[in-house]
Amino acid sequence: MNLLVTGGAGFIGSNFIHYMIKKYPNYKIINYDKLTYAGNLDNLKDLEDNSNYKFVKGDICDYELLENTIKTENIDYIIAFAAESHVDRSIHGFAKDFIITNVLGTQTILEIVKNNKEQIKRLVHVSTDEVYGSLELDGKDRFTESSNFKPNSPYAASKASSDLFCRAYVKTFHLPVIVTHCSNNYGPYQFPEKMIPFFVLKLLKNEKIPVYGDGLNVRDWIHAIDHSNALDLLLHKGVDGETYNIGSDNEIKNIDITKAILELMGKDENSIEYVKDRPGHDRKYAIDSSKIKSMGWKPIYTKENFKEGLKETVEWYINNKEWVENIEKNKENELNKCVK
Ligand SMILES: NC(=O)c1ccc[n+]([C@@H]2O[C@H](COP(=O)([O-])OP(=O)(O)OC[C@H]3O[C@@H](n4cnc5c(N)ncnc54)[C@H](O)[C@@H]3O)[C@@H](O)[C@H]2O)c1
Repeated sequence: MNLLVTGGAGFIGSNFIHYMIKKYPNYKIINYDKLTYAGNLDNLKDLEDNSNYKFVKGDICDYELLENTIKTENIDYIIAFAAESHVDRSIHGFAKDFIITNVLGTQTILEIVKNNKEQIKRLVHVSTDEVYGSLELDGKDRFTESSNFKPNSPYAASKASSDLFCRAYVKTFHLPVIVTHCSNNYGPYQFPEKMIPFFVLKLLKNEKIPVYGDGLNVRDWIHAIDHSNALDLLLHKGVDGETYNIGSDNEIKNIDITKAILELMGKDENSIEYVKDRPGHDRKYAIDSSKIKSMGWKPIYTKENFKEGLKETVEWYINNKEWVENIEKNKENELNKCVK
């Protein structure tokens, strides 16, 4: 496989590249990434000398460069992670960037797939459960692949729009495209604007950690390694034109994950500062993954061993001081922009 990974310098993309290179040392992997504030080549430092890995700096909205890369590298599979991904940024003034990258960028990739049908065997478009909107906190409902799209943030709206473009290109041009909807990821290499690394780094500096609203919002947490092995399965064995939900049956209240982090770091609840809720804050996400599970997929980290996965993750941020320092040094402005 000659695989093009867009957004491979980000959190999930870099976890996915590590996973794939280890499992399929003979595959050629091209990481195509614009290196926005969220892109970080330090995530892939260990692969610099790997002859089957190559980085290309580029924007997914740049039709010419992207198509040239695909042609030159003889790419036959594409997996699309590149996106503006932080909900808070989409609320606090950067919504246009979300439309440009998430919608226009996806449509650019689809055009390239359409115009290179003989060469490209499959595109996996990585999306989110946030497109489905919010569930009732006390209900038992879960999002299925046929749940309606009801996005509540500009981020979710841009991802929903990109998913609909995928659907339209499948229906109109019969393209080999798969769309995935995954729940909240955790693991190493996550830009510290997102909850888990953000809290760990604040606690390391003995600062308070901000919890939105009453902290009762529920998220369905999946380890990035489990997201990666689900995507691996779909890349190889998914059915074109289908959508797949990916989640680990691991629904947890934000306040409970906060307390678990405090405990792991030897802190108490005095370190919590309750802050004004995020506007349009979704109350609950929960994913029904029976479709992908029926293909044999099983997450390594579930509700039973989540604490273990969280502990490893927290320790990763504590132990990778250089990675953290580089981000804080080079991206201080961006970190301050999104911490609201
Ligand atoms: N993080 C989650 O919990 C989660 C859950 C479900 C789905 N997703 C989806 O997974 C994907 C990856 O998420 P993430 O958390 O790794 O994001 P991230 O913000 O950590 O990484 C995004 C990457 O995309 C790159 N990028 C941004 N705009 C680009 C452009 N125009 N052209 C090329 N590269 C560009 C960035 O440089 C960065 O490396 C996204 O599509 C996101 O919507 C994320």
